[in-house]
Amino acid sequence: MSTYLIPPFIHLPPPPIDKPPLTPTSPQGPDDLTVTSIPDPTPSPDEYLIAIHATATNFFDLLQIRGKYQHQPPLPWTAGSEFSGVVLRTPSSSSSSTSSTPKFSIGDRVFGATQGGYATLIAARESHLRPVPAGWSFFDAAGLFVTAPTSYAALVTRARVHKGDYVLVHAAAGGVGLAAVQVARAFGATVIATAGSAHKLAVARAFGADHGVDYRDAAWPELVKALTPQGRGVDIVFDPVGLIAPSMKCIAWNGRLLVIGFAAGEIERVAMNRVLLKNISIVGLHWGVYASVEPETVEEVWKGLFELMRDGKFRGTGFTDREFVGLESVPGALRALGERGTWGKVVVRLPQEREGSKI
Ligand SMILES: NC(=O)c1ccc[n+]([C@@H]2O[C@H](COP(=O)([O-])OP(=O)(O)OC[C@H]3O[C@@H](n4cnc5c(N)ncnc54)[C@H](OP(=O)(O)O)[C@@H]3O)[C@@H](O)[C@H]2O)c1
Repeated sequence: MSTYLIPPFIHLPPPPIDKPPLTPTSPQGPDDLTVTSIPDPTPSPDEYLIAIHATATNFFDLLQIRGKYQHQPPLPWTAGSEFSGVVLRTPSSSSSSTSSTPKFSIGDRVFGATQGGYATLIAARESHLRPVPAGWSFFDAAGLFVTAPTSYAALVTRARVHKGDYVLVHAAAGGVGLAAVQVARAFGATVIATAGSAHKLAVARAFGADHGVDYRDAAWPELVKALTPQGRGVDIVFDPVGLIAPSMKCIAWNGRLLVIGFAAGEIERVAMNRVLLKNISIVGLHWGVYASVEPETVEEVWKGLFELMRDGKFRGTGFTDREFVGLESVPGALRALGERGTWGKVVVRLPQEREGSKI
C-alpha cells in the first residue's frame, strides 16, 4: 500500500483499492506515473466523495509531473486535476461550503477540479464542483472546470470583448484556445485563429473561428493584420503560448494583449516603448486565484458560461481522434498532449463498474 503525504493546504484524495490512482514516483514525465492501489479516500466533513467517470489532462499537469509547477505536493502524490463523475457521499458538515445545506445530492452528476484527478474516487469541496450541464456527457464535462472559465474570464472579464471586435486566438485548437474561440464568437467577435498545423486550423474553424493562420509561417503577424478592416490590426490577442511581443505587430490602437500562458516554454520580455507607442494594454489572467480573492467573479463567470452552454454557443471540446480509456492510458494521453499531437481537451474515460453506468 502506498504512503500518502497530505500537505496542510490541500486534501489529496486517496483513491480506492480496487481502482488505483496514478502516483508519480519520480517527477520527470508522464512515463514515471505508476498505477498504485491505496485505500479509498475519507472525505473531510465539508467534502463530497465522487466516483470519477472521466478525467481531463492539462498542460499544467505535465508541468507538475516534471516538478516545474508552482504547486508541487511532496512525493508521493496523485496527479491530475479536472474530472467529472457522480456524487457518492455528501458533506457531513457544510460549514465551509457556500450554502447551509449541500448543493448536490447522492447520484448527482458533477464536474470539478482538485489535486488528484487521475483516480477513480476523489474527495472535493463544493466550491470545486459544478453540475454537469443538461445533455452533456461525462467525457465533455471533464474538461470544463479550469479551461472554460479561464478563457471566458480573460476575454469577458478582463478584455471586455464585444460585438465587432477582432480577436486573435493563439494555439486556437488547444484546450484554452478552443474555449476562447467559442466565447469570442458568442460575444459577436470575428475570430482569427492561429495553430501549428492545417488539421488544427480546421478544428478551430469547426468550433467557430472565422479565419485561420498557420503561425509556423514567420509572416503570420502581417497575414493576421491583412485580415482586419483596413489592416488596422486586432482588438484583442489571447495568448497561451508566449507570443505577446510578435503579436504587437498586428494589434490595433487601444488593443488588449491577454497573457494566458507560456506553452512554448519561454517567459517573454517585451519592449515597453511599444506598449506606449501603440496605446495598448497587456492584461494578465490567473484564473485559479479568483476563487480566493474574487469569489463573486467566479460565480459571474460560471453564470455566463452556463448561459452560453444553454444557448448552444459553447460545446465540449473533447479530443476524439484517439480514445483513452482507463488510468493506465493517462501517460499516453499526457504524452500526446505534450507532443502537440492533440486538440481541445484530451480526456480519459474511467468506466465505473460499481455503478454499472456508462460514460
Ligand atoms: N492563466 C491561467 O489562469 C491559465 C489557466 C489554464 C491554462 N493556462 C496556461 O495556458 C497554456 C495552454 O494551456 P492548454 O491547457 O490550452 O494547453 P494545450 O491544450 O496543451 O494547448 C497548448 C497549445 O500550445 C501550442 N504550443 C505552442 N508551442 C508549444 C510547445 N513548445 N509545446 C506545447 N505546445 C505548444 C500547441 O498548439 P500548436 O501545436 O497549434 O502550436 C498546443 O496545442 C498553458 O501554458 C497553461 O499553463 C493558464
